[in-house]
Amino acid sequence: MSLQQFVAALDDLADDAKRAFDAAADPDTLEEARIKFLGAKKGLLKSIQKQIGSVGKENMPTAGQRLNEVKSLIEQTFQATQDRLTGDAADGADPTFDPTLPGVAPEIGHVHPITQTIDHLMEIMGRMGFEAAEGPEVEDPHHNFVALNIPEDHPARDPLDNFYLSVGDGQVSRFVEGTRLLRSQTSTVQIRVMEQRQPPIRIISLGRVYRPDAPDATHFPMFHQMEGLMVDRNVTMANLKTVLRIFATNYLGDDVEIRFRPSFFPFTEPSVEVDFLWDGNWVEFGGAGMVDPNVFKAVGYDPEQVSGFAFGLGVERLCMRRHGITDIRDLYSGDLRFLRQF
Ligand code: FA5
Repeated sequence: MSLQQFVAALDDLADDAKRAFDAAADPDTLEEARIKFLGAKKGLLKSIQKQIGSVGKENMPTAGQRLNEVKSLIEQTFQATQDRLTGDAADGADPTFDPTLPGVAPEIGHVHPITQTIDHLMEIMGRMGFEAAEGPEVEDPHHNFVALNIPEDHPARDPLDNFYLSVGDGQVSRFVEGTRLLRSQTSTVQIRVMEQRQPPIRIISLGRVYRPDAPDATHFPMFHQMEGLMVDRNVTMANLKTVLRIFATNYLGDDVEIRFRPSFFPFTEPSVEVDFLWDGNWVEFGGAGMVDPNVFKAVGYDPEQVSGFAFGLGVERLCMRRHGITDIRDLYSGDLRFLRQF
């Protein structure tokens, strides 16, 4: 037998063995195939091995090396087949699975603290007769500004203070016809409600608003506001202050101190800003005031017949004070170690 014939016989044997192992569907058939190819006495590999002398003395090292390679190849194929038949695939059971070990409890999510706060605020205001209303987060300038008595040249309309969206041909400008923006306040919902309904009105609206504010401990570019609106005959500033005081003591506790500071909003007159005392510091949590007659005119109400108050409170700041959260950014970090506490 030449070296070439010897090597060819070995290669054929390796192919035949692989085919036989692959075809084995159970351990007994596999064992028969193993004896046929790898059997120590009468195995086919053994019988080729016995002929190694016929390749000639000078070819012996090459033939021996090839023989060893083919032998370990057939053994590996056998081992892999054995694993297949006795391991995972055999009966679908994971051999490393230990049914006596305790299980891993599935992680159950819960409602985000801001959503919890929103539910709580709605519940408190609901008890004072305020029903929830909603409006879109993508707004037109009419509802975000014009109807709220905010003129074209008012700094509140500046692109630096708002997220204008690109419209039509991709232009982003507050002057483009049909321009849209992410609402910068929930006061938009007051307008939408008054456009559709007649007084008496007593609504709140809770939702997201957006401003390009640099994030710090008390500011975030996306935050939530609770808008409130009450319109009826003879609604007064005293009603506004009473509602906000009752709200604040209900949500923040009987001992909370709040104060009203004179301020300015184009859509209320007079206007105030509302602060609470927190660890010795006054922190602003909202704006409020008596609805400006121009706003009533914009929605077709007669300011001689009705009066009303409106307020817009920062939901995050309320939540932060109640829970002692000192940095608004924690609420939106997505850090589960923080969120799990609520
Ligand atoms: C307003 O947005 C008025 N629309 C409020 C209003 C409604 C006045 C109705 C009169 C009548 P102001 O811009 O001050 O007002 O925002 C109100 C509250 O939102 C703030 O007091 C604060 O609590 C919260 N707030 C404002 N900017 C941010 C911010 N970047 N991150 C978190 N909270 C904010």
